Amino acid sequence: MSMPKLSDSVGAGILSAIGSTPLVRLAKVARDDELNVFAKLEALNPGGSVKDRSAFNIINKALKSGAIGPDTVIIESSSGNMGVGLAQACSYFGLRLICIVDPKTTLQNIRLMEAYGCEVELITEPDQITGEFLQARINRVKTLRSRIKNSYWPDQYSNLDNSSAHHQTMREMAASLDSKVDYLFCATSTCGTLRGCAEYVRQHKLPTKVYAVDAVGSVIFGGKKAQRLIPGHGAALVPPLFQTDLADECIQVTDLDCVVGCRWLARQEAILVGGSSGAVFMAFEHVKDQLEPGSNCVLVFADRGERYLDTIYSDVWVKDHFGQIPAPWQTISEESCLTATY
Ligand SMILES: Cc1ncc(COP(=O)(O)O)c(C=O)c1O
Repeated sequence: MSMPKLSDSVGAGILSAIGSTPLVRLAKVARDDELNVFAKLEALNPGGSVKDRSAFNIINKALKSGAIGPDTVIIESSSGNMGVGLAQACSYFGLRLICIVDPKTTLQNIRLMEAYGCEVELITEPDQITGEFLQARINRVKTLRSRIKNSYWPDQYSNLDNSSAHHQTMREMAASLDSKVDYLFCATSTCGTLRGCAEYVRQHKLPTKVYAVDAVGSVIFGGKKAQRLIPGHGAALVPPLFQTDLADECIQVTDLDCVVGCRWLARQEAILVGGSSGAVFMAFEHVKDQLEPGSNCVLVFADRGERYLDTIYSDVWVKDHFGQIPAPWQTISEESCLTATY
């Protein structure tokens, strides 16, 4: 298959639809209208998540630098959105992609990747030393790379083209609000989104206080490792992209709060989003009474809710894992997030 010329990717083709996502006002969450609260809807990227930006930037830069060419085999470990974003970009550029997933990857995400032509390989056992699937996936990437001669590992956890993609994400939010982004709430896994946004804030001396939103059970900000049910945010390893000064504060959110937040957003704001967006919303809820009146708060919603219909939005799944939970219109608990200052 011949590869489209690089110039074809600019202003043409599906990849040109990545970015410039809507920033919408959340009318029902504000504290007596004292706060202006906005959501950056990354689900509106064509592949359905914020990771479209990272995937495109990594592949496009690697093509431009000559690090990869038409015959390169791309091999990555991803349990979800990055795999879909890469599958989209690799399909567009005519590149072969092998994505290593684990049992936590939803069937829907596997099907999405395969629909774009990606070869999906499922790891069934965690790494024997760490007990982690993430490590087992990375081990498999390394094995495949040693066997496939012309191969390339985007390595989303350490690739600076992952984080630099999000200078643009922050630029868009700042442009929409005349540079007055007072508070930013952003979920973390590879820390690409957080790092890119934080770098832009610093470089442009924006007055933005950055809240990183992590999962309870994730180790990124020094938390204790524990089982997590909701995919997307959080990590079992500290990613190389992480730096201690990226966020002013970190808020860790439980799986249950992700569910409550998502369901509240679906029923109150009519926005159907994924688990990390529920976490971001609950983190905002947790601190909103401490925020300066009149300020602009931006919540980055990383992906769409359709990918969580069998979990977060399934009454049966929720009851199995959490028992009876409050109806979305009931008051949201203020005690369930853990806040740490860095
Ligand atoms: C749904 C969702 N939210 C948040 C994140 C975290 O983004 P990042 O890897 O940029 O830290 C991811 C990453 O894959 C994700 O899939």
